[in-house]
Amino acid sequence: MLKNKDLLGIRELSKNEILYIIDNAKKYYHNNKITTKKKVLNNFTQINLFFENSTRTQVSFEIAGTLLGASVVNFPINNSSQSKGETLIDLAATLNSMTPDILVIRHPNSGAVQLISEKVICPVINAGDGNHEHPTQALLDILTIKKRIGRIEDLNIAICGDITHSRVARSNIFCHRKLGNKIRVIGPKTLIPKDIDKLGVQVFYNMVDGLRNIDVVMVLRLQKERMDGGYFSSEREYFHLYGLDDRKMKYAKASAIIMHPGPMNRGVEIDGDLADNIDKSVITMQVEAGLAIRMSVLELLLKKKIDNV
Ligand code: CP
Repeated sequence: MLKNKDLLGIRELSKNEILYIIDNAKKYYHNNKITTKKKVLNNFTQINLFFENSTRTQVSFEIAGTLLGASVVNFPINNSSQSKGETLIDLAATLNSMTPDILVIRHPNSGAVQLISEKVICPVINAGDGNHEHPTQALLDILTIKKRIGRIEDLNIAICGDITHSRVARSNIFCHRKLGNKIRVIGPKTLIPKDIDKLGVQVFYNMVDGLRNIDVVMVLRLQKERMDGGYFSSEREYFHLYGLDDRKMKYAKASAIIMHPGPMNRGVEIDGDLADNIDKSVITMQVEAGLAIRMSVLELLLKKKIDNV
C-alpha cells in the first residue's frame, strides 16, 4: 500500500514504496509490449489537467488510464473557465463536485498541484510542477535502469546540465538518495543551485571530472522557458563545454548508459547521433517505461477503492 492519498513527489515516498511501484510496473510488460487484460479501473474516471505543454507524460497517462479501463477526460485548459479568471481553488472545488476517481495535474508553478490536492477528495498525481518535482519521471528512470543494467543500487549517477530549473533533477536526486546511490550534478555554475550539496550530491563544473567512473549519465534540457536572463553565453559554447558527445562520454564507464527525459535539443545538450546510439542511449526505453510506471501508479493509488468494488 502507498501511505499517502496523493503522489506529489518522490520526497514523500519511502524506499519500500518506490520499490513497490517499480515491482508492480514490471507485470505490464508482455513480450516487450506494455499492456494488461485486467481492466481494474473499469467505471473509474480519470481527469488529466495539463496547464503546461507535454507530449510523453500526458499521452502516456491517457493510454495508461485507457488500458486499465478508466474513462479518461483530458481537461481542455485553453477552452475552460480558467481564461475567465477562475482561481485554482475554485477549479478544484468544481472538479471535486464531479466526483472523479483520480486527477493527473501538470502546472508551471511549484506547489500548485499540492494546493489542488488539498481541496479534492480523490488522489492527485503530480505530472510535474514548476521546478519542484516530477515523480513519475524519476520512477520511470529507475525502472529503465533496472531493465537495462539489472540493478538499481550501488550505482554512480551523473545528472548533467540545467539543474536549477529541473524538476526531473530534483525527483531523481531524492530517488537515488533513497536507493543509496552516489549522485553527481555537472553543469555551469549559473545552472546549479548554490545549496544543492545539502541534498547530498557532489557538484562538478566540468564534464571530464564529473563523468569519471559513472554508470548512468542523465542529460537535461536547457529549460529556456523558465530562464529570466542569460545563464550561458551561446548554445554553441554550451554544447562545447557541457553537451554530451562521444569525446566526453569516454570518461564514463564503458558500460555507462545515457538517459534524457525529453524533449531533447539535439546539438545543444546532447549530440544527435549519440542520442540515437541504442548501444548506449536508453531514451526510447524511458518512454516505454513511462507507460508501465503510470499504469502502476494509477493502480496503486486507487488500490483500496479497486479492492472494495
Ligand atoms: N519528460 C517529460 O515530462 O516530457 P513531456 O514534457 O513531453 O511530458
